[in-house]
Amino acid sequence: MFSVSEFISGNSYEECQATADWLLSNTQVRPIVGIVCGSGLGGLAKMLKDPQVFKYSDIPNFPRSTVHGHAGQLVFGTLKGKPCVCMQGRFHLYEGYPIQKITLPVRVFKLMGVETMIMTNAAGGLNQDYKVGDVMVIKDHINMPGFAGVSPLAGPNDDRFGVRFPCMSDAYDRELRELAHDVATELGYNDFLREGVYCVLGGPSFETIAECRMLHMLGADAVGMSTVHEVIVARHAGMRCFALSLISNRAVMDYDSQEKANHEEVLETGRQTAEKLENLVSTMVARLEHGNDNAF
Ligand code: HPA
Repeated sequence: MFSVSEFISGNSYEECQATADWLLSNTQVRPIVGIVCGSGLGGLAKMLKDPQVFKYSDIPNFPRSTVHGHAGQLVFGTLKGKPCVCMQGRFHLYEGYPIQKITLPVRVFKLMGVETMIMTNAAGGLNQDYKVGDVMVIKDHINMPGFAGVSPLAGPNDDRFGVRFPCMSDAYDRELRELAHDVATELGYNDFLREGVYCVLGGPSFETIAECRMLHMLGADAVGMSTVHEVIVARHAGMRCFALSLISNRAVMDYDSQEKANHEEVLETGRQTAEKLENLVSTMVARLEHGNDNAF
């Protein structure tokens, strides 16, 4: 008989519980909403009232952010009156961490009492109707690393988190997506709010032209290197998920194009568009109700 900890490096129940206990003993905030900020989108954390900041390097068991544009700190506070915890910078497969380790924070959030996860990312637009600066509500995903057996749930299942074979056909909460569209209408954001399918790849190299064409044919509207692993772990643990992609660049689909994907453009689009995304998310958070299955 093997124990779970013999297989899993990085996000066992015991490790996550130890991290959650450490955080809860160092903050008064009891978060019900967890937010993960994508590249160049860390400004959401600055909207938290009475912020309490923990550098990742000070948190037991936490990995460190190695990517430019990711501050590498956890911020607790209230957003429009709701207790929140916000990852200002996330972890990616391409940083070299085991996939279990990059999703540890999501399990820690669960053990701290978080019920709803809101994730943002920067993504390349594959859908030809999308423009740079558009914001896409993710309605579904294609998990390319998952096709190759790279899953944060690989290894023995720990039933304390969730079931062995979790359903993913309802990964992105329908009511939260509807709320996003309602809020966008109120804020006058309808002309740039989209809804589509996000495809995750391992990175860190951007896609070739042939790869972009293939992903587009497969039904993906945007491509990136994050979020999906977090969603899988959150859904496994029964948390509601909502995710947004900021279309930071157009994926190159044409051999005559002179465009080249690059991280600076990704960050610059974030700087220009972040405010709209922050308004959308904070207004949504203001409307969230918890502790009632029938409410948002
Ligand atoms: N491809 C993959 N990841 C990305 C992109 C892209 O074009 N833009 C931002 N993240």
